[in-house]
Amino acid sequence: MFLKSVFLVYSLLVLRVYAANIMGLSPFKMSVIQPLLSSSKNSQIDCDHHSVKSSKRWDVVDMLKAMAKIDSTVGYEYEVMHWLRDVLEEQGMTVEMQLVEDEHQSVTGLARHNIYAYMGKTRDTSIVVSSHIDTNPEGNIPYHEIGEEIHVRGACDAKGPAAGQIVAFFELWDASIIKEGDVSLLFVIGEEYNGIGMKTAVESLNATWSKAAIFGEPTENKLSKGHKGNFRFDVEAWGKKSHSGYPELGFSAIEFYLRKANTLLNAELPYSPVLGPTTVNIGTIHGGVAANIIPDYVKAEMYIRVADDIEKVKAYVEELFNTEHSQMTIVQYLKPQYLSFDVPGFELIACAYATDIPYFESIDVKKYLYGPGSISVAHTQAEFVTVTDLYDSVIGYKNLITYNL
Ligand SMILES: *[C@@H]1O[C@H](CO)[C@@H](O)[C@H](O)[C@H]1NC(C)=O
Repeated sequence: MFLKSVFLVYSLLVLRVYAANIMGLSPFKMSVIQPLLSSSKNSQIDCDHHSVKSSKRWDVVDMLKAMAKIDSTVGYEYEVMHWLRDVLEEQGMTVEMQLVEDEHQSVTGLARHNIYAYMGKTRDTSIVVSSHIDTNPEGNIPYHEIGEEIHVRGACDAKGPAAGQIVAFFELWDASIIKEGDVSLLFVIGEEYNGIGMKTAVESLNATWSKAAIFGEPTENKLSKGHKGNFRFDVEAWGKKSHSGYPELGFSAIEFYLRKANTLLNAELPYSPVLGPTTVNIGTIHGGVAANIIPDYVKAEMYIRVADDIEKVKAYVEELFNTEHSQMTIVQYLKPQYLSFDVPGFELIACAYATDIPYFESIDVKKYLYGPGSISVAHTQAEFVTVTDLYDSVIGYKNLITYNL
């Protein structure tokens, strides 16, 4: 299902490039930087204070609107990342674009990049602030506002968080609370498909961070205590067809699977005092031919959100489904993440969705997850973020950064 939608995205992209070619247009005409920024021509570089002062900074709402109007469905990130590079450079940052290569997405033929931005020449910083800029392929949402709600794909997942982070960075910079070497910004692609952006950044950006990593995702501006791990797998079972009146002559693959699945649903799976229960979803079941035939095949797609001890969950599931009649195949295996929530003044939340944070496993810093908007609307046609939440997130990000300086 997911792969199909990704494939659809690529087909559309290829069409778009093709159509643009016949019209003699560049499909990715660089977006014009908002007129707002033209005033930054008056930027002054104040070397004594190691600060680049721009006379005009972005407002967080304008930043989200401008960013979200550029389609950046996973696989299409080329244009938005070039736009973001220009914006951050205009505001005085040193910006690196890191090429991300991914065999699954070479069909587009377009380069895809992460952005790593910092002040001056100091790549290694105490704190890295990060968000993904790609959006999920659940379909476009035409930009509109309902009261103070901003509706657009990426409003909260995760361009709203990214906008909050950027504005927080510059407010701290302009107030001389942070200086060169304190904070870098890392914006990645591919989070909504396979995390290739963050994986590439961790493997080959060659930057080091010493104190904290602050990740942006919708947490309702609450500080996340952590998020559950992903154990995603397919199960296939094989039986023998027969007339349904004579089940003893066959072997029902569906019945076999259902009994096993029922055992799993009733099993006591690891509970975490921080993240809550481990939950099981049987996402799809396909199999059988007709009501009057004992079915000889079934395939189910399953997803366990693991609160604790993923090794144990894996061993249990393997023992249950790897039998002479059935086989399971692991699709994704990501450990639960326990995050830092030591910064005072935040409400707390436990999350049950996946992020790029597991790729940071080898990096020994405190990890935080925080951002405006709610996961309950992300990945739906109702995705939005409120203006109030956006402004509040700037304060939240500033608090997380200053606490860790
Ligand atoms: C990081 O180091 C590797 C190995 O030396 C190199 O191939 C890669 O280009 C470096 N990355 C950057 C962003 O400089």
